[in-house]
Amino acid sequence: MYATLRSAARPIAKADITVCLIFKDCKIQSEDRALDKAYGSVLSAAAKRPECKGELGEITPVHAESRRFLLLGLGEAEKFHAQKLRAAAGFLARTLHRMDAASVHVSLNAAATGNVPPALFGRALGEGLGLGAFKFDGFKKGSSKKKTLQISVSDKTANAAVASGLALAEAANFARQLQATPPNVATTNFIAAQAKELARSLPNVSCTVIAGPALQRNKLVGLITVGKASEYPPCLIQLTYTPRGKAKGTVLLVGKTICYDTGGLSIKPREGMRGMKYDKSGGMAVLGAMQAISRIKPSCRVIALLPTAENSIARDAYRVDDIIKYPNGKTVEITNTDAEGRLVLADGLIYGCKKFKPDAVIDLATLTGGVVVALGSNCAGYWCDDEKLRGKLEAAAAETGESIWRLPLNDDYKDMMKAKHADLWNSAPVRDAHPIQGAAFLSYFVDEKIPWAHIDIAGTADIHKDIAPFVPGPTGFGVRLLAALLEKW
Ligand code: BES
Ligand code: ZN
Ligand code: ZN
Repeated sequence: MYATLRSAARPIAKADITVCLIFKDCKIQSEDRALDKAYGSVLSAAAKRPECKGELGEITPVHAESRRFLLLGLGEAEKFHAQKLRAAAGFLARTLHRMDAASVHVSLNAAATGNVPPALFGRALGEGLGLGAFKFDGFKKGSSKKKTLQISVSDKTANAAVASGLALAEAANFARQLQATPPNVATTNFIAAQAKELARSLPNVSCTVIAGPALQRNKLVGLITVGKASEYPPCLIQLTYTPRGKAKGTVLLVGKTICYDTGGLSIKPREGMRGMKYDKSGGMAVLGAMQAISRIKPSCRVIALLPTAENSIARDAYRVDDIIKYPNGKTVEITNTDAEGRLVLADGLIYGCKKFKPDAVIDLATLTGGVVVALGSNCAGYWCDDEKLRGKLEAAAAETGESIWRLPLNDDYKDMMKAKHADLWNSAPVRDAHPIQGAAFLSYFVDEKIPWAHIDIAGTADIHKDIAPFVPGPTGFGVRLLAALLEKW
């Protein structure tokens, strides 16, 4: 698959492939008519072929002497929006790769963008091509050769915006690569090394890691408890983005980074364990977002915390019935060692709120199977009591197509987490409202005055069916959402 995608400064005159866009009416766009004429009406003839229906993502190859075209279907013009373009561009990327294309020129006139203005069109095209080009095949024999694709668009504004879309896709793909890396490779130490390397490559981001005895000193009891049974020691990874000049506030991002979730002594059943390498997806999304943020350069400081551990099984594994005490004074009775994510997130939330006094906190976590049941893989569940933060998050979700749906969190739910022998339990004895229980538990560890959002990405972080521009596997969900949120902060 393509290793690099680049946007060209000017239209590529002799691109390997020229893409013409068609909607469901199968009409050649007005600006392509001259081209059509110059090549003996091959385009209009192809558009009349019975298999050419202008459906979203449909690709019709057209060969003229010495020139190759593709008609890319965008579906119904009235229903066209940026997310559909990302999907179509995802198909396009894979077709271009199969055709061995090294360069592509997209013919676009303002009218063809319909409801999508040219700047958004260019960006979504870049995102879709970049996301569609992702393939996790580094562990396969004879994995695909590293190729480069050059991209240009005839509309100037759209062309200039392609680079920003490609950069977002690159950040998401960085997260996806780490998400899918297997747990025998992507250990806690490996993730910490990756975070450090990322920070080294970014001029405005630094990285520190709290590990070993420093975990005790910082009272990171969740990490110590959950990580005890693993041969790979737990750690708290911190990345800091520092803007130029005086920072306009601080945003804290916390990402669940469980390198593997066996469930611990409350062991997961066979089929439930499969895919638990993706339990680090919250942290990887935050990591990818930091890469994007470094380029976007918002004027606020951004702190990323990745509580990182493996939930394993060994002689010294933490037990059901253990009671631990957090530095905010709250005691927690362990009722299920498989509800480990909230225990390590609590560390990140307490530590981050106290140390950085952020203006907002957002955590991302593959927290519950319940949210997969409730919302499936097209939409993440989220909880947020702050209207302003909600507005910003939903705007970022609409812009990026990374959908979120709000679920309730009131005192009744918070009361469900009050335990018999400790202040809280990590999982109530009833299965009611499972995803909400997770959010309710976390609420006890965030400073009440700080606007906070919890996003449960268990269903969206990795998918089992095609959701264009994604194929089954990791999606990097949250990278573009967080980047868009901070771009407008
Ligand atoms: N990592 C899982 C959640 C998960 C499940 C993510 C399926 C992706 C797909 C989490 O640590 C977990 O095991 N949650 C339990 C919570 C319960 C024990 C309170 C769950 O969802 O069943
Ligand atoms: Zn678990
Ligand atoms: Zn988990």
